[in-house]
Amino acid sequence: MPQTLAEMATEVLTTADGRAKTALSHAHAATWRAARAAGEALPIGTATPPLRPARPDQPELRDPRDVPKRKPGSPQGRIALLHAVAHIELNAVDLHWDIIARFTDVKMPLGFYDDWVKAADEESKHFNLVCDCLEAQGSHYGALPAHAGMWRAAEDTVDDIMGRLAVVPMVLEARGLDVTPGMIEIFRKANDTQTLAALEVIYAEEVGHVAYGSKWFHFLCGRHDIDPQGEFHRLVRKYFHGALKPPFNEEKRAEAGIPPDFYWPLADETPARARKG
Ligand SMILES: [Fe+2]
Ligand SMILES: [Fe+2]
Repeated sequence: MPQTLAEMATEVLTTADGRAKTALSHAHAATWRAARAAGEALPIGTATPPLRPARPDQPELRDPRDVPKRKPGSPQGRIALLHAVAHIELNAVDLHWDIIARFTDVKMPLGFYDDWVKAADEESKHFNLVCDCLEAQGSHYGALPAHAGMWRAAEDTVDDIMGRLAVVPMVLEARGLDVTPGMIEIFRKANDTQTLAALEVIYAEEVGHVAYGSKWFHFLCGRHDIDPQGEFHRLVRKYFHGALKPPFNEEKRAEAGIPPDFYWPLADETPARARKG
């Protein structure tokens, strides 16, 4: 039995099967919460998280260019879209436990751990909800190839907690807020009420994850007396490969504490492209 939060996180990271990983994630989150509610936080401890988390044999991981794209207008297209979402959620479970285990040398308030444990717990629920939708449609997570590059942001920022916060919650998860309403529309048109309900849960809870990113990024900027906006731009340019893509969900980004002057200067808005629309 793991004794510290960092050991619990590492246990999740080294569990390959998605349903087993998320069950362990829920159990460890409950243990952390129960201790906090009793007024005695578990020790954070230290651990050696793997550079890459354990993954099931299926899905086959492919270069994104080799993952076939299907039109969302067909049932197969919607299954492919859901499969991609399940893959994102499974990576998100690991990303949240990884930030807990990876940076234990940086002293952080207990609230930092409360937030990421909660986020990891929610991602575990998201993965299972999406897997349930896939299974209701006769498919399952692992049935299709998936994106191989999803852990790159974690590897690139393996020794930079502020880079991790900038790129993972504040860029990648914020991007989720931009694209989820379009996905919800696709499943609404298909009258898929189960998937609709799952996506509504995901959409509501992801705002919180982006907000945790912004909160702890600003906290660390304050600790080091750094200008947050300039530092965010520097770190995203250093670690994120490519420009940010408008349109942005300004409303939900604002709710999550990401102001427009953080993302617009990083957007791909060369005049030629902007004119093409
Ligand atoms: Fe999620
Ligand atoms: Fe998330």
